[in-house]
Order: sequence, then C-alpha cells, then structure tokens
Amino acid sequence: MMNPIPVIAIDGPTASGKGTVAQRVAQELGFACLDSGALYRVVGLLALEQGVGLDDGPALAAVADAITTAEDPAMRLRFADGRILLGTRDITEAIRREEVGRAASRIATAGELRAALLALQRAQRRPPGLVADGRDMGTVVFPDACLKVFLIADVRVRAERRYKQLIEKGYPGTLESLLRDLEERDARDRTRDRAPLVAADGAKILDSTAMTIDAVVAQVLGWYRAG
Ligand code: CDP
Repeated sequence: MMNPIPVIAIDGPTASGKGTVAQRVAQELGFACLDSGALYRVVGLLALEQGVGLDDGPALAAVADAITTAEDPAMRLRFADGRILLGTRDITEAIRREEVGRAASRIATAGELRAALLALQRAQRRPPGLVADGRDMGTVVFPDACLKVFLIADVRVRAERRYKQLIEKGYPGTLESLLRDLEERDARDRTRDRAPLVAADGAKILDSTAMTIDAVVAQVLGWYRAG
C-alpha cells in the first residue's frame, strides 16, 4: 500500500548545503526534518570514544542498536529542540568536528551499520510530512519519496563554504587540507558498494554553485508545490 505521508529527499555530496536547505524547506512546510548524516556522525563519535574499529560492521551495528533501542537511559539518542542528546549528554557540537565527519564517512561503508539505522530513519516519517537529507534518502531509505533532489556544487565552492563555517568555530586547518578531505570523502561515498552516492531515478539535479541558499530553497519548494 502506498504511504500517504509525503517525503522530500535531498541527497548530495559533502558540504553541498543539504542540511540548511532541508531545514528551511521543512520549516516552510511545517514538516519534520531528518538529518541522516547526524546518525552516522553519532555512531562515528562513539566508535572513536569506545575504540570500536571503524571497519568492524557488526560492532558498529551494535553501537547503533545500543543508542536506538537502549534500555540504559544514559545511552538513548534523542533529538530535542535542535539539540542532539545521548542520555543527558549534549553532543550537538561534538559530532560536527571534522575528525568525526571523517569517521562517519568511513563507517558508512558498513552494510551492517546501514541496516541497523534503517528502521530509525523510516520511523521519522510522520504527518504532515518529512524532509530527509543525506546520501541515500531517495535511493534506499525513502524510494517512494514524492520529490527527490540531488544537490551538487563545485568542490572548491563547497570547501570554501565549509571552511567559513569551521573558522567561525575556531578550526585551525587550511582550505587546501579541507579540499583534499572533501574530495576523499566524496570519492569514498561514491564508490562504496552499499548505498553509494548517486542521484536516484527521477531525481532533480540542482547545481547550487552559483545560487544563494534562498534561491535553492525556493526552487525545492517550487518543485514540491508543482508536483
Ligand atoms: O557534513 P557532511 O555533508 O560531510 O556529512 P553528513 O551529511 O553529516 O554525513 C556524514 C557522513 O555520513 C558522510 O560523509 C557519509 O559518508 C555518511 N552518510 C551516509 O552514508 N548516508 C547518509 N544518508 C548520510 C550520511
């Protein structure tokens, strides 16, 4: 049976602006928003802290199970008022660190982990609708999304945008190292066996290189309202 709750899937490479666009579109429509990358980042953070091997699929899946179905309240993952909490610990900032993003990209190749996160992602689909951003929202998690957007931008522009965000937070790196890092992450996301980063069938490809965020948001809303 068709699921009547609309989903807008926004996928694309690192630092393409998906997160900001997804939040703004969700706000406009009064929809919920799923930042699926945050889930991979949370597991990445815990794997680093607990010394779990970044290529140990079953152990990573166990970490994901522990935070999503935790009996121990100190381990339970919650999203509240824009904050991400593990029990009472606020990890909103910690998961945005570059080393955590790198770990997230590495663990995301594990099929066991991806499977363990599937139900949690699908459970976010609630009336009146959901905007979901990530790599495989339109291909794997919500293949029946009513609108699929594949958001791209020139890699140098993405690196500059990310760099600006990071220096505001006191990040010490250089633009060149960030650019290399982005390219490496894109390559890994695109070439992995499980849920590689590709535009879904029927996805609308939007190149935001020369667009403002406002223009990107307006385009996505325009497509949704026209559909
Ligand atoms: O901030 P950035 O755009 O680099 O990444 P993110 O959306 O926060 O996701 C972090 C990492 O998780 C990505 O590098 C992907 O490898 C992985 N990911 C994924 O495999 N599938 C998703 N649906 C979302 C993220």
